[in-house]
Amino acid sequence: MIDVVLLPEFLPREALPEAQVVVLDILRATSTTVTALASGAASVRLFDRPEEVLKARAAAVAPVIVAGERGCRKIAGFDLGNSPAEYSNDIVNKAAIYLSTTNGTRAAVAARTARRMLIGSLLNAAATAEAVVTELDRGPTLLLCAGTDGRTAIEDVIGAGAILWQVLAGTMRPDLELTDTAWIAYQTFASVRSRLAPALRLGQGGINLIHADLEADIDFCAALDRYPLAVGVNLHSLEATPWRNM
Ligand code: MLT
Repeated sequence: MIDVVLLPEFLPREALPEAQVVVLDILRATSTTVTALASGAASVRLFDRPEEVLKARAAAVAPVIVAGERGCRKIAGFDLGNSPAEYSNDIVNKAAIYLSTTNGTRAAVAARTARRMLIGSLLNAAATAEAVVTELDRGPTLLLCAGTDGRTAIEDVIGAGAILWQVLAGTMRPDLELTDTAWIAYQTFASVRSRLAPALRLGQGGINLIHADLEADIDFCAALDRYPLAVGVNLHSLEATPWRNM
């Protein structure tokens, strides 16, 4: 069964230990995580709160980059914000990054009792679908939308639909069971797939970025399949790294 969970609050707690979960915060936390790893970062560890980032940095044995946003802006005293373009190879190569964002990293924390976790975005939709397909028969697949401040975000639904599109194209499995929300995500993606960047401007997440003068991030995050990179998460440390059959 493949489901799209529209907010972390709607996660089916009892099903999580059996489930593979794909976390999606298209604008911008999961797009940024994927970009950092595609740019050569060693890992991106996901935290709920900035205080936890600072505590973990104090305990780290090697230097780390601390990163994240509140209200779309870089957290005071942190090294990087949440714009994927900031995470270029010259800045993040081989680095361990600790990241805290308002909605995206919080969604990953909410799903940490899952059997398996992947980080998805439009940037790596096809690669994520390929990783999802390897474990479709081991339990439910939950595409988890982070949302924006407790509300469903259209860009996350579009991202979930992009992964579903690839899963259905790649499996030829008429027996796959999709929930109604999964079909809604699929149909939403299908209706905007030739104009993703304008669609990402429609919702509150996109509007917030436009108001913060970060509109270029929307175009960056809309680049479908820019990276042939699936990203897995260690469920003990919540460290995201390139997927190698995790
Ligand atoms: C989040 O995790 O809340 C988002 O990525 C917010 C943002 O665009 O920075």
